[in-house]
This record gives sequence, C-alpha cells and structure tokens, in this order.
Amino acid sequence: MYTLIACVLILATAQAGPASGVEELVRKLRSRYDKIDAPGCGQRPLAPGNGVSELTTRIVGGKESMPYTWPAICSLRYVQEPNNHICGSNLVKNLAGEYYLITAAHCLNDTRASRYEAHCGIHDRADESEPHRIIVHFNNLYIHSGYNSWTMDSDIAIFKVVTSLPTNMFISAVCIPNEGWTDGEISIVAGWGALSSGGSSPYKLHQVNKPIKPRSICEQRYGVGAITPRMLCAGLPNGGVDACTGDSGGPLYTYRENRWTLTGIVSWGHGCGEVGKPGVYSDVIELKDWINTVLNFL
Ligand code: ARG
Repeated sequence: MYTLIACVLILATAQAGPASGVEELVRKLRSRYDKIDAPGCGQRPLAPGNGVSELTTRIVGGKESMPYTWPAICSLRYVQEPNNHICGSNLVKNLAGEYYLITAAHCLNDTRASRYEAHCGIHDRADESEPHRIIVHFNNLYIHSGYNSWTMDSDIAIFKVVTSLPTNMFISAVCIPNEGWTDGEISIVAGWGALSSGGSSPYKLHQVNKPIKPRSICEQRYGVGAITPRMLCAGLPNGGVDACTGDSGGPLYTYRENRWTLTGIVSWGHGCGEVGKPGVYSDVIELKDWINTVLNFL
C-alpha cells in the first residue's frame, strides 16, 4: 500500500501541477488508510477499557451511561432555543489540533453555522448546573454535497468550532477510523433519543450495544437500492436494541487498538428496534476522504 502511495506521489510531483487528478487520487488513498486526526483521540478517562462490562447495557433496549464517560458526545441546539436538544454530535480534532463537530446533515434545517451551538461535557441534557458543561459555538458549517434528504445518502455535516475547549476528562475528541468495520463487530450507540418509537426522551445520556450487520443482510431488510455505499447497518435479528428519534447525528462507536472510533453516525431506521429493521448509520470510513478535506484542506 505504502509503496503504491509512494509511487503515485513521485509521479504526482514529477508530472503534475497542484490540485491535479493524481494529487486528488493520492489524497483519497492516503485519507482512507492514514490518520487524519490529532493523536490522543478516543480515550474515556472515566471508563477505561473496551466497554465489555457495559455489554448488557437504552436509547432502545439499553441503559443510562455512566456520567461523563463519552467525552466526545455533545447535544446540538439552536442558539435561539438553547434548551431544546436537536440531535447528537461528535467532537473530533484535525491534524493541527483544531476542533470540529460532526453530526448528521438531516439534523440541520438552517445552513448558517451561527444559528447553532453544542452543549458538551454533559450527562443530563437539561441540568444547567452540571459543572463541566461547555457551550460550543461555530464559524463554519459544511454539509456534504452528496447529501440527499430523500434517500439519506451521505448524511453528514461538519461544524468548525470557534470556542476554545478545555483539556479535561469530560470533553475530548473521538477518533476517525483508519480501517473499515467488520461484519458482526460490536458497536455502541449513545444518545439522548427516545426510549421507544414515539416514546419519551430521557434527560440522561443512554447507550446500547449492537453488532454491525453485513451489508447483504441490510439490503435484504430494506431493499437493495435503499442502502447506499455510504450507509452501514447495526442491530440484532430480533430488534430490541436501537437508536431512535433524537439520537440522530450521534455516534456509533467501535473500540479498536485501545481507542474509541466514530464508525457510524445515527441516520435513520424503520421505527426503532423493530424485528428485522436494523438501525442505519452514515458509514464514516466511506465518508473519510470528504471529512479529511473539510478538516485538513479547507
Ligand atoms: N432520524 C432519527 C432522528 O432524527 C433517528 C433515527 C435512528 N433510528 C433508528 N431506528 N435507528 O433522531
């Protein structure tokens, strides 16, 4: 792989000017396999380890998270309505150490970054007295140009954070994956979304474990055209564990090499936790090249 990249690099520098097709190809190849975020991501100081002790752990079918154990998750709000949770969202850091917030494009009705804020370092979304709560503001918003509100393809958006964030155990970045997911890999979805379809939403952060499903099974469940290459599915055959309304934009985490990785972004599903209807997530590895462009090249 690296030899290939090296060769292409030499070719690129020898023959082509800036922003050529070859350079573009090199950037794509590199972003898929190389780190595009700052070192130190994906740690959970208040809950070290791989999360297996959390395995029996709602959202739909899950349980309340231990307070402050997911330091990258934030609650997205409108500045005008700071008490209303819109969606989940995820702090990431680029190679220069600058913070960005990743969410789902379908969460956003307004394209102006200044209309939004995120509440980070929180457990209870309504408790304004929580000591670690930071309100984060933005100066830019990038919505994926392939986002389609009908098919939910490329359901991802990124805010550039302007607020300076403290370095502590309660707020930190999640990693961007360097490799694809595998069938059956265990993942954890977290959020403040409804506990059942049409049900009420908790104040406190919840989480649930679920395996990632092979693409072929997901296509059987939803129909071949419904699952685009930029989507992944996760759930149990009999349902019962899932994200639901209000979880959108939030994380599907996997644990790899001692780091928590943002493998998926809560996007859509038929009901919540229904039998034979897995949750559908934006597939971050497939969107990584775009993420790299926003974080490191714009
Ligand atoms: N679209 C919903 C939202 O805006 C959440 C979708 C997740 N649904 C599911 N069954 N996994 O909050």
